Amino acid sequence: MPANDHLVIFDTTLRDGEQSPGATMTKAEKLRIARILEKLRVDVIEAGFAIASQGDFEAVKSIAESIKESTVCSLARALDKDIDRAAEAIRPAERGRIHTFIATSPIHMQYKLQMQPDDVVDQAVRSVRRARSHVDDVEFSCEDAGRSELDFLCRIIEAAIKAGATTINIPDTVGYAIPEQFGETIRQLLNRVPNADKAVFSVHCHNDLGLAVANSLAAVSSGARQVECTINGLGERAGNASLEELVMAVRTRQDLYTIDTRVDAQHIVPASRLVSTITGFPVQPNKAIVGANAFAHESGIHQDGVLKHRETYEIMRAQDVGWHTNSLVLGKHSGRNAFRSRLLELGIQFETETELNEAFTRFKALADLKHEIFDEDLQAIASDTRQKEEDGRYGLVTMQVCSETGVIPRARLTLLVDGREHKVEAEGSGPVDATFKAIESLVDSGCNLQLYSVNNITSGTDAQGEVTVRLERGGRIVNGIGADTDIIIASAKAYIEALNLISRGGVRQHPQGADV
Ligand code: KIV
Ligand code: ZN
Repeated sequence: MPANDHLVIFDTTLRDGEQSPGATMTKAEKLRIARILEKLRVDVIEAGFAIASQGDFEAVKSIAESIKESTVCSLARALDKDIDRAAEAIRPAERGRIHTFIATSPIHMQYKLQMQPDDVVDQAVRSVRRARSHVDDVEFSCEDAGRSELDFLCRIIEAAIKAGATTINIPDTVGYAIPEQFGETIRQLLNRVPNADKAVFSVHCHNDLGLAVANSLAAVSSGARQVECTINGLGERAGNASLEELVMAVRTRQDLYTIDTRVDAQHIVPASRLVSTITGFPVQPNKAIVGANAFAHESGIHQDGVLKHRETYEIMRAQDVGWHTNSLVLGKHSGRNAFRSRLLELGIQFETETELNEAFTRFKALADLKHEIFDEDLQAIASDTRQKEEDGRYGLVTMQVCSETGVIPRARLTLLVDGREHKVEAEGSGPVDATFKAIESLVDSGCNLQLYSVNNITSGTDAQGEVTVRLERGGRIVNGIGADTDIIIASAKAYIEALNLISRGGVRQHPQGADV
């Protein structure tokens, strides 16, 4: 249980965040995000829903193997098979948590679960006990608590704590709550549940009415000591409460809150960028804390005020949340050992010497082009290398693109398909269009391109561009990522990665589906 002055930050970017349509991530991408969450010093990382698919299981397991400073958690419905699978996935973790849940609102119990309230309580108790047979750290959530009856919530929470739950989570699953009312619900629960002092009370708010952060803060004022949140507010529908807003609200208004988090806020902006790049969901310029304009002063009066005394118009310092913190780490003359030890400092460890060599060769090639290499470049090299090592049907061997004023752009590529080389070429409205058309002239994937976005990994025109390509086929959506100092090559890599992901297939279960 946390000290009363500590607010536990439970990040669910990799689970609820990934439930956003189109935000599916690969294992390598999830690991990359988990590492930055660890640097941020979040207390708990909800790494996924282990039973959803073999891929989800492996992602949770590899995060459990790599992360040392944060608790690693897997979601599980209140079912034996879910709980056992979650336990297996988090077993390697230094600190592991099982998060089990069942719906408690009349509408969910009647229509989704088709269960009587007494049976829901019994199932909750059985599941918490089973989770406790695997680990000491068990969270129980009352799904759709925001629309549940208070008396029933008191009853099921008391039973869950008696069965061994150490954290009780009150989700506003459909984003229906209003701050005063939600704060009052938490106050009532803490007063009325007789064994409330034996667990940490948590909230998990969705943003359907734009109130997720406000509702979470109202709950904190009423005594909640864990908030569940995501980077950039990513999540189902309108998203979850945003981590950066919650953390900075509590930290900036220490005159009102007697608690704080242990988050190292300097990593907030890099974490936001990474999540945005990997998911392909851009951050709106006026987004609090992490939007490009969050610290920009346009009007003359504001600029004048800030120059005379920063606090006239600024309540936080841009550098405290990680703006302008690119740190120069390595250059053209750095050797293998410096490269390896910087990767280790970043928490990146390759499984084989061949992978490390491949990454070092890419680093040298990049250093020739770019001279200054930043942490973000190293992370991109690492995930590019890992992606290449993961088997895929398609690969890029060479490419040549012609782009000239007054001439139709043309792309010529040599592609690898199932181990055989093929030459393709096509014209397009621009070099990227020509590249994608050339690839499709061979592959004929039947995919729809849903999103194409380019971000610079660091600043400057010599920076690597990281391209996200989102493809859809038969309702399945994947994001491919490619990085290179040449954004046309990065685009081809991203497109090919997306094709590899789509060709791997596989079905994932949604945790909040009806089959409990
Ligand atoms: O929104 C929700 O209710 C959830 C639960 C599974 C915690 O995501
Ligand atoms: Zn949720």
